Amino acid sequence: MESDAGDRFSNANAYEAYVGRWSRLVAQPFIAWLEMAADRAWLDVGAGTGILSQVILEEASPAKLVGFDLSPDYIEFARRQIQDDRVAFIVGDAATIAFEAPSFDVVVAGLFLNFVPAPQRAVTSMVEAVRGGGMVAGYVWDYGGQMEMMRHFWDAAMQVDPAAHEMDAGQRFTICHPDNLRALFQSVGLEAVDVIAIDVQTRFRDFEDYWQPFLGAQGSVSKYLRGLNDERRTALRDQLHRQLPTTDDGGIPLMARAWAVKGIKADSV
Ligand SMILES: C[S@@+](CC[C@H](N)C(=O)[O-])C[C@H]1O[C@@H](n2cnc3c(N)ncnc32)[C@H](O)[C@@H]1O
Repeated sequence: MESDAGDRFSNANAYEAYVGRWSRLVAQPFIAWLEMAADRAWLDVGAGTGILSQVILEEASPAKLVGFDLSPDYIEFARRQIQDDRVAFIVGDAATIAFEAPSFDVVVAGLFLNFVPAPQRAVTSMVEAVRGGGMVAGYVWDYGGQMEMMRHFWDAAMQVDPAAHEMDAGQRFTICHPDNLRALFQSVGLEAVDVIAIDVQTRFRDFEDYWQPFLGAQGSVSKYLRGLNDERRTALRDQLHRQLPTTDDGGIPLMARAWAVKGIKADSV
């Protein structure tokens, strides 16, 4: 299952405008779907700017919450945003981090599993951190299907630049598919694995509200745009302008689908 370790994240404010605002909309139904009781110990892997952590605090009344992420800039942002005695944010790599295992009741990861080079290794670490009977869960965008903001971007890119095909998140992030997510969670021994689609409305005020955040984008889009010359970037912008659906008031009404997955660690594991 392919992923890409080269998609770096470092600008917290840009992330908020780009995808953070939409991740927040998914985080709410995702946390509700987990149906976790209050006063549990949570671990948020790839916590980024703290979007999912904030929703856990608001919706799940945790006893304790640890968020960790590779990006010092994001963790610094999360610490400034969320000041709560129950919470600790730490900088760390999911590939090497070790907790006094297994100390968490639930381990979650929002928009993370496609950004690690070895998703199975990452989920194994998540399983190691959770107690027997506890839950491991996450969500990723449906890049190849109904994450329309991204789908329009890559479809337009392929119209103006045949080389964009190789960078298309829809085909690179094979883990962002319900069957593959289910297989991944089952492959590490999780039980009662379930996958659902979470659909949210992503309405852009106007074309600039859609386009500008891409210019400060993080991850694979940023890497792709950095490699384009001015002419190609303008062609891409024009193609998107033609292609995107627009309402009478200039708004761009799109939807975004995330695939959410959860599983239970067997008591004996
Ligand atoms: C798309 S962001 C998601 C952030 C947040 N969970 C959200 O839903 O908005 C992906 C995050 O994964 C982090 N990340 C990528 N590889 C990582 C690793 N090996 N260990 C820890 N964090 C990692 C990135 O720094 C980034 O913050």
